Amino acid sequence: MIADQHRNEFIGNEAHANTNLLHDGDRSLAAFDDAALAGQSIVTAAESMGLGAVFLGSILNDAQQVIDLLHLPKLTFPVFGIAVGYPNEKPDLKPRLPLKSVHFENCYQEPDKDTLDAYDQTIQTYYAQRSSNNRTETFRHHIIHDMQVSPKKRSEILSVLNWQGFFLKN
Ligand SMILES: Cc1cc2nc3c(=O)[nH]c(=O)nc-3n(C[C@H](O)[C@H](O)[C@H](O)COP(=O)(O)O)c2cc1C
Repeated sequence: MIADQHRNEFIGNEAHANTNLLHDGDRSLAAFDDAALAGQSIVTAAESMGLGAVFLGSILNDAQQVIDLLHLPKLTFPVFGIAVGYPNEKPDLKPRLPLKSVHFENCYQEPDKDTLDAYDQTIQTYYAQRSSNNRTETFRHHIIHDMQVSPKKRSEILSVLNWQGFFLKN
């Protein structure tokens, strides 16, 4: 899935319009929103046809190489990949955070320690008992690990985003 303001820039250039705002935070976010929304629609459509799909953020382990391989012009960026195919296994459904942790009414609700404790317990049991790729990990372990290690190339993502022309101005 590619965030794309390049086409809009092309149209602007054709009309000799000022295309500067295409580099701002608002337009940059919109391009990423579009790609993510279209991606989820593709996954939903694939699953409705009996296919399976996996989002692949791993393409960002070397965003620049993906940009080079796909000949992505300025004002485009690879948001994520999607692998689609016929599943050869039926993984157990992962238990989700309770609805009250992700759906708030009127204003943001701070995370609740007891709910996280309970979910840690649930997810630890799920990881220990699921039919493949067993792990001994809680939700919090996973989150804390994830915030402390990053593939080397991913630390360059903001620079690559800026180089591609995104998030350059307010
Ligand atoms: C933005 C994003 C990027 C992801 N990147 C990868 C990836 O690179 N490799 C992978 O195996 N799973 C990746 N996943 C996770 C799988 O797609 C995952 O199976 C899917 O989100 C379903 O999650 P669940 O196990 O919580 O149901 C990613 C998920 C998201 C939302």
